Amino acid sequence: MQPAPSSLRVEDLATTNEAMARCLRLAALAAKSDVPVVLLGETGTGKTLLAHAIHNSSARAARPLVSFNASAMSDTLLESQLFGHERGAFTGAQQAVKGKFELANDGTLFLDEISEMSPLAQVKILRVLEYGEFERLGSERMLKSNARIICATNCSLRERVVQEKFREDLFHRLNGLTLLIPPLRERLEELPALIAAELKAAAKSEGKTITAIHPQAMERLISYPWPGNLRELSHTVRTMTLFCEGPVILPQHVVFPPDLAATPSRKDGNQAEPDATKTNSAHANSDLSLASAVARHVSLVYEQTSRNQRQAARLLGISRATLARHLRKLDQK
Ligand SMILES: Nc1ncnc2c1ncn2[C@@H]1O[C@H](COP(=O)(O)OP(=O)(O)O)[C@@H](O)[C@H]1O
Ligand SMILES: [Mg+2]
Repeated sequence: MQPAPSSLRVEDLATTNEAMARCLRLAALAAKSDVPVVLLGETGTGKTLLAHAIHNSSARAARPLVSFNASAMSDTLLESQLFGHERGAFTGAQQAVKGKFELANDGTLFLDEISEMSPLAQVKILRVLEYGEFERLGSERMLKSNARIICATNCSLRERVVQEKFREDLFHRLNGLTLLIPPLRERLEELPALIAAELKAAAKSEGKTITAIHPQAMERLISYPWPGNLRELSHTVRTMTLFCEGPVILPQHVVFPPDLAATPSRKDGNQAEPDATKTNSAHANSDLSLASAVARHVSLVYEQTSRNQRQAARLLGISRATLARHLRKLDQK
């Protein structure tokens, strides 16, 4: 189990995977300077964790790391969130509030999901990065922020620039050092150690004594593609700990999100009953077509967001209409 992100440092992170080792070497370098960092990785690969680690290993560690989810912010709230406001600046502004740039002064500003930022947010952030100055809403007093910027994105910002979804000038401002965090399926050699660490923590919190993982259970864990990466690994290990009643994790304790192609019971909302004789992924029915992979991924994300269409569409990077089309297709299976 990792220490809480609030205290974790880059030096605390270890890996046996070459690509991840390179990423951690760059993270250690990044911690020694104020260069802007882009953390590029799929959801659940550890971007937030690494942002905290870089901050905690940096000379700014005693100052706050302030997070801002750039995708979740409406344009109306944006400016007061970023720059703060004075009392009475707008209806309902009953007291003065500091914005993220002010709070992160001398510290780190972590801009999460940066590729999804609105054009307005891009302009506003660019201006502060260029001039190092901003005003609270309702004030003309210039404030300075020297916040160090760490961004996270699950898609290439360069591609977003090519698609004209991301400003090129902002891209160049942010793009100091890019750290590529490999997905879990490309770090398979690390899986046993990661599972063991998660299992130890989960067993402790459940008050269980689990001494082993059955080889077939391990096989199931290793052959799964882990689209939700470390976050999904953690949930899966917790679930299997819950199901496990003896000292050994058995294959039937390892349950993945139901695959619609294999389990027509999606609508009843039941997690598949643990059943060692059933495997639920396309590995099992060896349907390796792209269409089937897409369908699996859509359904997984949809289930992981507790069937929240808006959130699922955002995570998948598609419109709600496209998501609805995928879901209709799945329902027809
Ligand atoms: N190297 C790692 N070792 C163990 N757990 C990790 C590691 N990296 C991330 N995690 C865990 O995986 C989960 C997802 O990490 P997070 O940083 O939130 O991912 P992201 O921001 O990329 O979606 C968190 O619970 C985190 O503690
Ligand atoms: Mg995150």
